[in-house]
Amino acid sequence: MTVSNRMKWPENADHTAVPYYVFHDQDIYNREQDKIYNGPAWHFVALEAELLQLGSFKSTYIGDTPVVVTRGQDNEIYAWVNRCAHRGAEVCRHRHGVSEDGTFTCVYHQWAYDAKGDLRGVPFQRGLAGKGGYPKDFDKTQHGLRKVKVVSYCGAIFGTFSDATPDIETYMGEDVSLFFKRIMNRPVEVLGTTRQYIKGNWKFYAENSKDPYHASLLHLFHATFGLYRSSQEGATLINNDFHTVLWAKSGEEDEAALEDVKKDKLRTYQAGTYTLNDPSLLVGQQEFDDGISLVILTLFPSLVLQQIQNTLAVRQILPKGKDEFELVWTYFGYTDDSEELRNIRLKQLNLIGPAGLISMEDGESTELCHKAIVSDGDRTNVILMSGSETQSEGHLVTESAVRGLWKGYRKMMDL
Ligand code: FES
Ligand SMILES: [Fe+2]
Repeated sequence: MTVSNRMKWPENADHTAVPYYVFHDQDIYNREQDKIYNGPAWHFVALEAELLQLGSFKSTYIGDTPVVVTRGQDNEIYAWVNRCAHRGAEVCRHRHGVSEDGTFTCVYHQWAYDAKGDLRGVPFQRGLAGKGGYPKDFDKTQHGLRKVKVVSYCGAIFGTFSDATPDIETYMGEDVSLFFKRIMNRPVEVLGTTRQYIKGNWKFYAENSKDPYHASLLHLFHATFGLYRSSQEGATLINNDFHTVLWAKSGEEDEAALEDVKKDKLRTYQAGTYTLNDPSLLVGQQEFDDGISLVILTLFPSLVLQQIQNTLAVRQILPKGKDEFELVWTYFGYTDDSEELRNIRLKQLNLIGPAGLISMEDGESTELCHKAIVSDGDRTNVILMSGSETQSEGHLVTESAVRGLWKGYRKMMDL
């Protein structure tokens, strides 16, 4: 198949059979930058809790584009592209911090910008001793940094480059915004950050985080100790095709489903009776009245918001070319947490991050997929668990949300 043909979805493929070249093709990747990352989508960029002080800032990305999110001296949140308006150098070279005087100065020729990204100062604007300098009509207001439109929603900041992006709640959809508000229900405090570099296409991770099928099979520890099983009460909710909520209640097992699981002789359930030397790892608190112990919420393309027992986190998916992505985890609790609850969160997050289990396993399976499909671009995968539809379902034995991902992706990519 030629490259240009790859810009059409093949006839033998739909959202139940996705051609592998979408994970490896450079033209597809370039189109994603255009249609998705510069298109009508909201991209998670920061928690407000990461920008508490006036003048604080955080460097991040929307797709390939470096952006900086700031809290201005007026207490408003701003974001701009981290590329000097002069000759294109990166302006802010720190991951995060506080600009005491509220300015951001490019190191190359020292053009200086304020927190809004407006150009404030240009060295030698009038030249030196009558020599050089900028033309008289040089207008600083015309040479600011490229602005990113931002919205703060329940303490989370999203950015977009497109004027066609709908308002954030419309973009999310009803279930997703409901569950978003459920977790982000009061001010949060950041407990820590980890970064994970995964050698795989970012869409494998988009699939993974919408896929309850793998969750009780790959993540053996969580299944063995009852933190998550497909036989638990739960649901797969899909909004606007590619935003999803997977939720489960760890205390509520469907006995008939559990019997079926045992008949399948899965390795999870043949594991015998494992116990922990230090069971305090699993001690948690029921902190939500609805009894839901696990929520994986995805807002396409860049955010996963999670509650796994008492571990709360946002995961930001940052593509780094077609063959790699970075996963930035920001763990948080609430500002009114008791010390006991904060310690529970800190202990439990060892189960989730790149040095723990969940994310190490998801990262590894992503890389396994990416490696194995290199020369099979025109072949397709199989996404048929629970049929071919893409609607919400009242259980977790489904790939409907993965199909929804591809349905929404095709629409946005115009493929
Ligand atoms: S490139 Fe930034 S001041 Fe010249
Ligand atoms: Fe997983």
